Amino acid sequence: MRQKKVAVTGGLGFIGSHLVEELSRENQVLIIDDESSGHVENIEHLSLDNISLDRGDINDADLVDLFQEVDYVFHHAALASVPLSVENPLLCNEVNVTGTLKVLDAARQTGVKKVVLASTSAVYGDNHNLPLSEKEPVNPKSPYAVSKAAGELYCRIFSEVYGLPTVALRYFNVFGPRQDPNSQYAAVIPKFIESILIGKQPVIYGDGEQTRDFIYVKEVVEANIKSAESDLTGVFNIASGQRHTVNELFQIITQLMGEELEPVHADPRPGEIKHSLADVELSKSLGFHPKTNFKDNLGETVRFFVEDHKLKA
Ligand SMILES: NC(=O)c1ccc[n+]([C@@H]2O[C@H](COP(=O)([O-])OP(=O)(O)OC[C@H]3O[C@@H](n4cnc5c(N)ncnc54)[C@H](O)[C@@H]3O)[C@@H](O)[C@H]2O)c1
Repeated sequence: MRQKKVAVTGGLGFIGSHLVEELSRENQVLIIDDESSGHVENIEHLSLDNISLDRGDINDADLVDLFQEVDYVFHHAALASVPLSVENPLLCNEVNVTGTLKVLDAARQTGVKKVVLASTSAVYGDNHNLPLSEKEPVNPKSPYAVSKAAGELYCRIFSEVYGLPTVALRYFNVFGPRQDPNSQYAAVIPKFIESILIGKQPVIYGDGEQTRDFIYVKEVVEANIKSAESDLTGVFNIASGQRHTVNELFQIITQLMGEELEPVHADPRPGEIKHSLADVELSKSLGFHPKTNFKDNLGETVRFFVEDHKLKA
């Protein structure tokens, strides 16, 4: 993508900041972010020539004004945590459902060429029919998953009723540099790395034989750009199509970090699904072909956290 004007909601967050990094090389990027879980430090390393930042809530912003001349909207702003959505379902609905509706409505009014919504594999719930294809029923198990399923449906309706092209991308487990290791609900990869860096034994919930389909954040960026440029609309899994156990993950990370540590085992977390794996055939129609260099990508992620740890020490 070149010489376009694009908006990235949630552009100060983990995934959003990687999108901004790539898009701002050759496009004008507007970030809309209220800094509720994202940080301006996530884009500090970038040249700000092509980037403008609207600090604020998507629900309060004048999106019709902000989207003037915008070609593509990458909608990543969200309350992005299952446990937080369980604690505060109304806030989750406000940000993820009303916020998405406002983004779509402003995009429709301003003639945006396409909206790409960050959705989630959580919409499948606990489905054992692996690998999960997009044809499987939606079966949310949390307010977060409901809110993303609603966002997907609004995307579809805005395509069908108003002719606004939309794509909803169901991300599986995304990982990479800048993923927050410190929140109570942090994802497993940054949590393992951070624990090892501070000399604490990482915690594995359950027997560690649960599997996940991990996708590197830079590949998620590529999928977003391919989706915006594609003529296709609809819902697509974004994943690697491969799964790894948490025990395997632990072993690779300790090896990469040159540590010989034993994990601490804790009770399985309530409601956690045992296995997850995506069918990635449909996403290939977007021109997106997930690569299989999991170890290299983990290596890059470990290097980022090690450097970051040194800088902060
Ligand atoms: N990380 C994953 O593995 C994963 C998996 C599936 C789906 N997703 C989705 O991808 C998107 C990005 O996730 P992430 O992991 O980068 O999370 P993140 O929390 O790092 O990013 C979300 C960003 O949105 C901003 N934001 C939140 N509410 C806002 C509001 N009301 N107005 C403006 N900005 C707001 C936050 O400040 C943050 O910068 C989310 O929509 C999330 O649901 C992520």
